[in-house]
Amino acid sequence: MSVLVTGGAGYIGSHIVRLLREQKEEAVVVDSLASGDASRVGDVPLAVIDLASEQAPRSLRTFIDQHDVSAVIHLAALKQVGQSVEQPARYYRENVGGLANVLLAIEGSSVDRFVFSSSAAVYGSPEASPVTEDAPTNPVNPYGQTKLAGEWLVAAAADAQQLRTASLRYFNVAGAGWPELADTVPMNLLTLAIDAVHRGESPRVFGDDFNTPDGTGVRDYVHVLDLAEAHIRSLNHLADTDVRSTVLNVGTGTGASVLEVLDTLSVCSGRTFRPVVQVRRAGDPATVVADVTRMQEALGWTARRNLTEMVGSAWEASLLARPGMAS
Ligand code: WQD
Repeated sequence: MSVLVTGGAGYIGSHIVRLLREQKEEAVVVDSLASGDASRVGDVPLAVIDLASEQAPRSLRTFIDQHDVSAVIHLAALKQVGQSVEQPARYYRENVGGLANVLLAIEGSSVDRFVFSSSAAVYGSPEASPVTEDAPTNPVNPYGQTKLAGEWLVAAAADAQQLRTASLRYFNVAGAGWPELADTVPMNLLTLAIDAVHRGESPRVFGDDFNTPDGTGVRDYVHVLDLAEAHIRSLNHLADTDVRSTVLNVGTGTGASVLEVLDTLSVCSGRTFRPVVQVRRAGDPATVVADVTRMQEALGWTARRNLTEMVGSAWEASLLARPGMAS
């Protein structure tokens, strides 16, 4: 019996695969390698499949049967919010179409548990924070829409295909469990700030006039290793629950502001820099923090790692990725 991780050659997926292997679980990976990297999965069996392609359900099913897959963790997707605004049809095809193909592939197979990678983006700008899973969903960009549509599809398939499913709504994922699995694409606050520091540029603060304690945006940063653990706990939970489908926030329940993240980076890196304040980014909410009660109660799980561990591990990994920068 093995666990299939789609997108297992990416940042989050490779952490899940590494953790599964550490726990002596059999793991196999499907990844298109469009943004993933085969070196991240080591000797774990890897099938290179574009999940949105017409042949995907058949080739995926062959791989699933070969490896006696009993559970799927589906992460493979596009995740750039700005790009999703420019290319909505591509995002629906890849994220919703890709998911549909995975569900078609497992119809009538040995797979009976399914964990779907969703996002706090389904909430849009939450009216209240901390935000519970029962809060209204109102995604404000096509990326978030594809994640919400994905959740609906997963819940419908749970009933129709006799699956037990969990959709995990990730908040702001950061850090590295192993330096070689770190997020290498500067696309969000921490990775952009680290990149700026290495270039000798100033990290940017998108707005300091929000209704928050220091005026900058507050988010719930969760360590990628905690997130990886949450997936494995969810799989175990699905094995012994009667609940068919569930939706779970994955965060720490504690917010950090942009300035707190940057201060932590300054401490962890030993570098001094002066952030530059720019105008707000369109659509950015002031505060997005998870209510993590459901995760605690259903799975007995809480995130264990703090902001310093996230920022410190990301910084250390960035030094290794840039030989000669360690001084
Ligand atoms: C965090 C905070 C910015 C960059 C996005 C997606 C979300 C999820 C995670 C995947 C905000 C501020 C940022 C910078 C800054 N994705 N910021 N300077 O927007 O909370 O969430 O990524 O599932 O769906 O929307 O993350 O890291 O872009 O921003 O001041 O250079 O940092 O304004 O307050 P965000 P982020």
